[in-house]
Amino acid sequence: MRKGYLTMAYFFQEPSHTFSEYLLVPGYSSEHCIPANVSLKTPVVRFKKGEECPLTMNVPMVSAVMQAVSGEQMGIALAKEGGIAFIYVSQSIESQAAMVRRVKNYKAGFVISDSNLRVTDTLADVLALKQRTGHSTMAVTDDGTGTGKLLGLVTSRDYRVSRMDPDAKVADFMTPVEKLIYAPEGTSLKTANDIIWDHKLNALPIISEDGHLVSFVFRKDYDSHKGNPLELLDGQKRYVVGAGINTRDYDVLVMDSSEGYSYWQKHCLEWIRAKYGDTVKVGAGNVVDGEGFRFLADAGADFVKIGIGGGSICITRETKGIGRGQATAVIDVAAERDKYFEETGIYVPICADGGIVQDYHITLALAMGADFCMLGRYFSRFDESPTSKILVGGSYMKEYWGEGSARARNWQRYDLGGAAKLSFEEGVDSYVPYAGALADGMATTLAKVRSTMCNCGALTIPELREKAKLTLVSATSIVEGGAHDVLLKDTTNGNQRG
Ligand code: IMP
Repeated sequence: MRKGYLTMAYFFQEPSHTFSEYLLVPGYSSEHCIPANVSLKTPVVRFKKGEECPLTMNVPMVSAVMQAVSGEQMGIALAKEGGIAFIYVSQSIESQAAMVRRVKNYKAGFVISDSNLRVTDTLADVLALKQRTGHSTMAVTDDGTGTGKLLGLVTSRDYRVSRMDPDAKVADFMTPVEKLIYAPEGTSLKTANDIIWDHKLNALPIISEDGHLVSFVFRKDYDSHKGNPLELLDGQKRYVVGAGINTRDYDVLVMDSSEGYSYWQKHCLEWIRAKYGDTVKVGAGNVVDGEGFRFLADAGADFVKIGIGGGSICITRETKGIGRGQATAVIDVAAERDKYFEETGIYVPICADGGIVQDYHITLALAMGADFCMLGRYFSRFDESPTSKILVGGSYMKEYWGEGSARARNWQRYDLGGAAKLSFEEGVDSYVPYAGALADGMATTLAKVRSTMCNCGALTIPELREKAKLTLVSATSIVEGGAHDVLLKDTTNGNQRG
């Protein structure tokens, strides 16, 4: 019992460690252990023993809930590769929802129409709608919604802005439904694409038995769909995307808070469960020990995020003196997650958030028990992050700043019209080396992960956990791990960071 004056704080007997202090010791690789046979499929949300997890990913990577990382471009690019982006929270709810909607509507396959008109609308309305949504194929329906009775279609081939009156009515220049080629609800994607090719269409409306618009299939989506075998789709063939929430604006998917072991997170989870049951999937965090994990798992979290103070732009440990080495935190929480599963039969996935510097840190996190990793700096370097690419000292850089930095706070305050003034920063503003297209970067990273898994004799993430042998390394052997005692010709290679 730790009570009163005659005692001191609880003291962990072991120091806490970070990823760079560990290595994997190879195990036996059979002839089947080749990277092409490795599956990186992983659960995202809680499920009961013996049941299927309702949401899985094809790669164990999600992007951080940060202004400098996860906008709509990231959402689309990452879902294409099989992961999930969590659209940032520090903006107005309307603009965050619009970003999520754009990711959902982007996808190949069956796209719910988001650009819709009535016959009484005018050419000026058409142009305004095109400006707003960026889409040039518009459905004309009886009630102006994406699921109304289809009356016609307007595409840029139906009007000439220079020759027509802006007040011209849609009814007079649309292509009426009688002249359209469409397909019935239930048509497969393959058949839809065949119709598109046979009739040289750009868009094929899918229509219900009673003539209501169900969705479109677009020609332009065909190629990109073919090229991404791991892409992550929902039941309507739309990309899977996440969104951050803070503990005041309850909505969906992951609570964006640096400290998860709190009354507020429990309160928020209870509110969500009371209002939406388990239809809304929501992750919680961050925690760094088993106690914090159990608290959030009991409160109903769908997954739990681990990590305090380990983020590349994070100065929480320096400013507040709280946190824990990320590897130790993951190991501790994973042990509790397994104990929780044994006791309750409920598996609550865990996410290692922050501090992934080298690609192999992902493999280590998985071996230590993480179901997936959340990365900020890593994703901020790619074309698809929302920040500008700038030339600094002759090299291209992208900007990357913490959510707890003055920069993010300023933006948030500006957007939300006066958030509470916080008196100190927990994050910095920085540059990161530009790294090109996300698809190329992730291909390299995941090739390394698959290769290391094969070295450990594992073809799946659960198998990796079972078979992995981890060793702590001394400071001197860390030096031995890099190129040493040679004069490097290419100084960028020996110290490359993923
Ligand atoms: P990174 O991948 O090492 O760059 O870490 C990204 C993670 O850092 C995010 O997912 C957050 O958990 C955390 N983070 C983001 N902004 C801040 C901040 O300003 N201070 C502290 N931690 C932050």
